[in-house]
Amino acid sequence: MNSAGWTSLVLWSACFIALSCGTVRYQPEQIHLSYGEKERSIVITWSTGNETDSVVKYGGGGQLLQTKTGSSTLFVDGGQQKASQYIHRVTLYYEDPDSLQPETKYFYHVGSDRGWSAVYWFVTPPEKLNDWAPSIAIYGDMGNVNAQSLPRLQAETQAGVYDAIIHVGDFAYNMDDYEGQVGDEFMRQIETIAAYVPYMTTVGNHESAYNFSHYRARFSMPGPYENMFFSFNMGPIHFISFSTEYYYYLHYGFKMLVKQYEWLENDLKEASHPANRTVRPWIITLGHRPMYCSNKDDDDCTQIKNRLRYGITPLRLFALEDLFYKYGVDLEVWAHEHSYERMWPLHNYTVYNGSYDRPYTNPEAPVHIVVGSAGCQERVDHFNPLPHWSAFRSSDYGYSRIKVHNATHLNLQQVSDDLDGEIIDDWWLVKEMPRIRFPLAEKMMEDDHLPSSRSRRDDFSNNSLPPVVQIR
Ligand SMILES: *[C@@H]1O[C@H](CO)[C@@H](O)[C@H](O)[C@H]1NC(C)=O
Ligand SMILES: *[C@@H]1O[C@H](CO)[C@@H](O)[C@H](O)[C@H]1NC(C)=O
Ligand SMILES: *[C@@H]1O[C@H](CO)[C@@H](O)[C@H](O)[C@H]1NC(C)=O
Ligand SMILES: *[C@@H]1O[C@H](CO)[C@@H](O)[C@H](O)[C@H]1NC(C)=O
Ligand SMILES: *[C@@H]1O[C@H](CO)[C@@H](O)[C@H](O)[C@H]1NC(C)=O
Ligand SMILES: *[C@@H]1O[C@H](CO)[C@@H](O)[C@H](O)[C@H]1NC(C)=O
Ligand SMILES: *[C@@H]1O[C@H](CO)[C@@H](O)[C@H](O)[C@H]1NC(C)=O
Ligand SMILES: [Fe+2]
Repeated sequence: MNSAGWTSLVLWSACFIALSCGTVRYQPEQIHLSYGEKERSIVITWSTGNETDSVVKYGGGGQLLQTKTGSSTLFVDGGQQKASQYIHRVTLYYEDPDSLQPETKYFYHVGSDRGWSAVYWFVTPPEKLNDWAPSIAIYGDMGNVNAQSLPRLQAETQAGVYDAIIHVGDFAYNMDDYEGQVGDEFMRQIETIAAYVPYMTTVGNHESAYNFSHYRARFSMPGPYENMFFSFNMGPIHFISFSTEYYYYLHYGFKMLVKQYEWLENDLKEASHPANRTVRPWIITLGHRPMYCSNKDDDDCTQIKNRLRYGITPLRLFALEDLFYKYGVDLEVWAHEHSYERMWPLHNYTVYNGSYDRPYTNPEAPVHIVVGSAGCQERVDHFNPLPHWSAFRSSDYGYSRIKVHNATHLNLQQVSDDLDGEIIDDWWLVKEMPRIRFPLAEKMMEDDHLPSSRSRRDDFSNNSLPPVVQIR
């Protein structure tokens, strides 16, 4: 090789190591969808290394005749190299002229005249929410290394099995590692599912670096709180995603913890107002660290004075179990423990079965499940002896499915990846009579176990709802 050849080889090696050096990166990557601010709107998010316009070309029938533009923000990793990327967002609304139509398969690609992505597609929900019985894959704790559940999720998602995917915290392990390259690689890998259905998220402890900056910058959840807490609706379900991490990373400040608690109470209050609950009878919360678990580790969920459940001691600040009980939350989905666990209907370590034979039909307390076994390099967690409040456990890698049947019936399944996709748990959550509150909530409020609720006792003049009505 001549000296020019050597020079260019050395230059290229240096470039390869630095991953930048004059090369331009206009190609869109890390494409993913989410639900936007307005119900059923779709946000398309992607990244480029260098600044470009933010354009989505889309259309039904395979022709990309419609154009929508958005904007980008510069995201700088907190590491030494200060690696940067532009994160682009474009929102498609039903209200836009000629824009989204219900029950339509849209094809799209993203980018700018400097480079276009591959063509992806998504399907819009039916116009009448009552006609929509969405199917959702839900899990937590899926990393870059050993993402065991990903191949099965790719096959199912691309075959149209799901309407959305929910990731309940702990992404990539960790998104900030190697100057943020682990996060980039993770986002490229989930593009194979997240570019087809909304990929809705909850923050976990592995996102804590730089005050959760990667999580806050990379996703596009609704609401003003940078993906940390928000709610969204899917058919008859009102989902509430919130940060359990505010309870543990107190050195980032109390302010957001206070704000979140106020927001949670207000959101629950609105969602459980008869006018809303009649239309969306199911309330499901999404939080990363559980209140209850029976794993053989000393995590906070094994402790009676768990911070989320009991509140931050000694004053029991921001306790969530009573709050969720008071507003009749139906299902609380958690992760963090690398296993699957389903509890009996539970409040304050007491089981409140609907009846002995049918514990999940008209249960008298929320049901908790832990779904943190999607796959990461930390391997699975094992268990202590079975407590009286726990119903089913498994340390297999896998993920859960929520299938809405109607306003009274939800079906939940746990898929084992270790057993080649076998369904190892299959159960129904049933509310035959529409209900806002659990029976004891009234008494709790009387007994003043909930200081903040006392003044608001009149929110519900009436504990029963009229029969579920057909909605638009
Ligand atoms: C593209 O981005 C790289 C890395 O941020 C930077 O060094 C380079 O100057 C940019 N090039 C252009 C043309 O903007
Ligand atoms: C962390 O971010 C929140 C906003 O989400 C902000 O209120 C808080 O002050 C930040 N904490 C630190 C230590 O920067
Ligand atoms: C129903 O929920 C919406 C938000 O989804 C809220 O704006 C409205 O105030 C709620 N209705 C009631 C009566 O609380
Ligand atoms: C939970 O139960 C314990 C005793 O088992 C009781 O001391 C405590 O007050 C209860 N907490 C609530 C919020 O009811
Ligand atoms: C709840 O129901 C399950 C299933 O029938 C049963 O094993 C358990 O003992 C029940 N718990 C209580 C407190 O009734
Ligand atoms: C709701 O779905 C369940 C399960 O598919 C079914 O048995 C029930 O009849 C349905 N109820 C209504 C009102 O359609
Ligand atoms: C509660 O609300 C239902 C439906 O609006 C109504 O039929 C019933 O009479 C109310 N009960 C009381 C005690 O107000
Ligand atoms: Fe975790």
